[in-house]
Amino acid sequence: MPQPEPYRWIAKYYDHLFEFRRPFDTAHETIILPLLDQVTSACDLCCGTGTTALNFANLGIPTYAVDLSPEMCRQARAKARKTGLPLKVIQADMRNFKLPHPVDLITCEFDALNHVPRTSDLNRVLRSVHRSLNPGGHFVFDVNNLYAFQQIWNRTWVIDKDPVMMIMRSSHKPGTHKATAAVDWFIRHGKVWKRQHELVNEVCWDPQEMRDALTHAGFDKIRTWDAARFFNDALTLPGCRTFWRARRPPG
Ligand SMILES: C[S@@+](CC[C@H](N)C(=O)[O-])C[C@H]1O[C@@H](n2cnc3c(N)ncnc32)[C@H](O)[C@@H]1O
Repeated sequence: MPQPEPYRWIAKYYDHLFEFRRPFDTAHETIILPLLDQVTSACDLCCGTGTTALNFANLGIPTYAVDLSPEMCRQARAKARKTGLPLKVIQADMRNFKLPHPVDLITCEFDALNHVPRTSDLNRVLRSVHRSLNPGGHFVFDVNNLYAFQQIWNRTWVIDKDPVMMIMRSSHKPGTHKATAAVDWFIRHGKVWKRQHELVNEVCWDPQEMRDALTHAGFDKIRTWDAARFFNDALTLPGCRTFWRARRPPG
């Protein structure tokens, strides 16, 4: 059976519905800003609609943006065309993407790394990132932790913003490291509403497992920040989400 296109509907209405980039900008100030004077090229992995990649490009940094979803890539390309900024969008899987040239900084934001299902997939991502970085380059990402699945992934979210209404039912099966968001979309075409459905699956890793995986892939200078201090909201409790930064050693 053909697989549904990943992130088809979420991609189309992502910027329209999710206007909460501020915590990531705040996190960048602490985690990425101190590196920026050594960054001559960058890549945002799992770039979504390209917002972070375009922020780098806007600083004059030649940037790649990689995502598996054709619709996310379409959205990112359209935004890049509008701005005329130096952004090259590549449709690829984070487990085996290849860049035309290695870069100094790779980011992977908004729990995108939770989307690969197995530890072996996580290891493949980390190897691909390591290979795509220049020596001395950094990988910055954030992940949902088990505590987030336990605390937040048991709710129903409704966002109603014409012409779309989204109902997202998230669930976590106790005793597992897995969570699912079942998303129903109601999209208005004139007076007619059409319904679409998609599933987003996430898997989380223990912090020690992530640290070991990074070390095994060849990274050093591994640092973490709890996301609560950047989000500063009622949902992102301490322990829910972690920002990670790791370096490909120089030389
Ligand atoms: C939660 S969104 C985050 C998007 C963007 N990083 C942001 O901060 O808004 C997760 C993104 O990961 C992408 N994605 C999921 N699995 C992927 C894979 N195996 N390879 C590349 N991209 C993937 C999705 O298409 C989606 O754009």
